[in-house]
Amino acid sequence: MRIMITGGSGFLGWNLCLGLRKRHEVFGSYIRHPFALDNCSSFKLDLTSQGEIRSCIEQIKPDVIIHTAAITNPDQCEKNRPLAKKVNGDATRILAQICQDHAIRLIYTSTDLVFNGNNGLYTEEDKTDPLNFYGETKLAGELAIKELLANFVVVRVTLMYGWGNGMNGCFTDWMLSALEKKDKLHLFTDQYRTPTLVNDTVTGIIKVIEEPHVAGVFHLAGPERVNRVEFGRVFVDTFGFSRDLIQAVKQDEIPALVPRPKDSSLSIRKFQERYHFTPKGIKEGIKTMFELRNQS
Ligand SMILES: NC(=O)c1ccc[n+]([C@@H]2O[C@H](COP(=O)([O-])OP(=O)(O)OC[C@H]3O[C@@H](n4cnc5c(N)ncnc54)[C@H](OP(=O)(O)O)[C@@H]3O)[C@@H](O)[C@H]2O)c1
Repeated sequence: MRIMITGGSGFLGWNLCLGLRKRHEVFGSYIRHPFALDNCSSFKLDLTSQGEIRSCIEQIKPDVIIHTAAITNPDQCEKNRPLAKKVNGDATRILAQICQDHAIRLIYTSTDLVFNGNNGLYTEEDKTDPLNFYGETKLAGELAIKELLANFVVVRVTLMYGWGNGMNGCFTDWMLSALEKKDKLHLFTDQYRTPTLVNDTVTGIIKVIEEPHVAGVFHLAGPERVNRVEFGRVFVDTFGFSRDLIQAVKQDEIPALVPRPKDSSLSIRKFQERYHFTPKGIKEGIKTMFELRNQS
C-alpha cells in the first residue's frame, strides 16, 4: 500500500514511519523538522495551506492517509487559538474532503482529551466534552471526518511514552533528563491516564491499516489506569534511579494555562475484541523501553 503519514517528523508519526516502511511504501510529512529515513520519502507539508494539502495528496496518490500532524500542546493551542483551529480542525476537514474526492481511506489519531475526565475508563460511546481548546479542535476534526467519510477510522490514543527521533519527544524524555540531573520530578497523584508504549500504538495502527473494511472510532491505549506517580515509580525503578526523586503533587499545586482532565483513562475493550491485541501494561512497557535503549 502507498501510505501517507502527516506529521512524519512527530513522535508518533516517526515511529509509524519506522514501523511501516519495510511493509509498505511510506511518505511522511514535516514542517519545521526535516528528516531522512531509509525506505521512507519525506516531504514538506503546511496544513494551513489548502492548496499544499491537495497538491501533496494528488502527487503521492496514497491508498491510506494516517493523519497524526497537529498542534499537540494544550497550552500552545490556548495561546494561539486561530492557528490551533486551522491546523487541528480546519485542515482535518480539508483532508477528509480530499479523501472523499479520491476514495482514500483516512485514519485520524485523536485524543483522550475529548473527554472531561469526570468518570474515567471511557468507551467509544461515551459523551465527549473537552475541557480545553486542544480537545475542542481535535473533536472538531473527528466530527468533520464522521460527517464527510464512510471509510474512516478515528483512533483515540493517550499519553504515549517511548523513544522519539530527538526532534519531537514525549514526557518520558523530560523525566529522563530531569532524573539524570538529579532534579525532582513533580508528578500528579490526581491525574489518571492509560499510558501506552508508542511501539504498541504503532502495532495497533498497523492492524487497523491492514484490515481495510473496518471503520469507526476505536480507543487504543495501555490496559492500566494509573496516576502519574504510579507511572513514575515504575519508571525510576526500571531506569535505576531513586524513588526519592519523585515529589507527589496535586494538579492544582502546579499552575497551568489550561485545565487537563483528572481521569481521561480509556477502555480498550472494543479494540481488543476487534483486533485481538492488548498493548503492554506499564511494567512491561517501560521494561521494553529500557531494553530498546540498550539495543540502540
Ligand atoms: N503524544 C501523546 O501522548 C498523544 C496523546 C493523545 C493524542 N495524541 C495525538 O496523536 C497525534 C500525534 O501526536 P504526537 O505527540 O506524536 O505529535 P508531535 O510529536 O507533537 O508532532 C506533531 C507533528 O505535527 C506537525 N505539525 C505541526 N504543525 C503543523 C502544520 N501547521 N502543518 C503540518 N504539520 C504540522 C509537526 O511537524 P514538525 O515537527 O516538522 O514541525 C509534527 O510532525 C496527534 O494527532 C495528537 O493529537 C498524542
